[in-house]
Amino acid sequence: MKVLAIESTCDETAASVVESFGGGVKVISSIVASSVEIHSKYGGIIPEIAAREQIKSIVPVILEATKDSPLIDAIAVTYGPGLMGSLLVGVETAKSLAWAWKKPLIEVNHMVAHVMANWIINNNDELLPELPAIALIISGGHTDFVHIKNINDWKLVGGTRDDAIGEAFDKVARLLDFPYPGGPEIDKASQRVNDDDWKSFVKTNKMPRPLINDNSLEMSFSGLKAAVSRLITEEKVLNIHNKDLIAREFSEAVSEVLVSKLNKAIEKYQPKSVIIAGGVAANGKLRENLRTETESHTGIKFFVPQIKYCGDNAAMVGATAIMIPNTANPNLSPNPSLEIV
Ligand code: KG4
Ligand code: ZN
Repeated sequence: MKVLAIESTCDETAASVVESFGGGVKVISSIVASSVEIHSKYGGIIPEIAAREQIKSIVPVILEATKDSPLIDAIAVTYGPGLMGSLLVGVETAKSLAWAWKKPLIEVNHMVAHVMANWIINNNDELLPELPAIALIISGGHTDFVHIKNINDWKLVGGTRDDAIGEAFDKVARLLDFPYPGGPEIDKASQRVNDDDWKSFVKTNKMPRPLINDNSLEMSFSGLKAAVSRLITEEKVLNIHNKDLIAREFSEAVSEVLVSKLNKAIEKYQPKSVIIAGGVAANGKLRENLRTETESHTGIKFFVPQIKYCGDNAAMVGATAIMIPNTANPNLSPNPSLEIV
């Protein structure tokens, strides 16, 4: 089966053609247009601008993605959660194409799609996640632990009480005067710091590891923002060196919390696989630390998408449409922004 997938949740307009391949999904084309540079002027996403950019990009992106694939069997589209104005552009375009081409329309949940990016493979002997699995979705809007018993049985089993992890990265980056989106900037900054410098910095500047000793899978990241703000006030001069040290210590705090919570999730649910997903999964250090934690438990396989399928893209939406029967798509968001009935 060949699927044209469309994703327009936020500030990325994406289209992709994917097909079933060796038990997983192969990407034939994946085009992503981003309006992030426009938003970086404002230090965050402006929903009105994001929606207008979606309108400009949607048709060129679909034309580019389908230029070598004239025949498709179905159309998949993200219906939420996301920004209403942005979502409407993708959903209405997908509905119109489905109607005009007389093809089925498959509605996909954005968070499920992030996880399903792990079913994208390049070779048919590549390992695929085995279920039951624990998925950890770390993105701009979500920090969710999901227990996937089988492909039709997904349950939200933990998450953040306040800020999502990507949101925390972006807010801390803003405090440090790094450009938007802040996640990749903090990633780069913390890699510039060597271990010895970091160890001596934390002797007097250790940040909290919120809820790390709490046995639940609940997390909280808004306190870290306050801790960074306090550190900045204490530092008399904010230069590239101490900014990098703060970024490093923030990244270490986040990573320690996630690693500890992942460990608790593994012990509680005894999964066959651990699946990481979402934009923050592009973070080099986090990928490494979560992998090491997972592999310290014998027999559990670790999966994280290629970097290009961590952030928003449409290939993950197509992968969901192929791998999960549509009617069984769970809705992980308690308040989806848009539902098509
Ligand atoms: O999944 P995504 O593209 O969009 C949502 O569904 O939210 O995630 C975007 C988030 C942003 O907060 C961005 O700063 C963060 O992912 N991000 C990173 C990295 N690359 C993107 N955070 C930490 N390190 C990175 N390398
Ligand atoms: Zn996303």
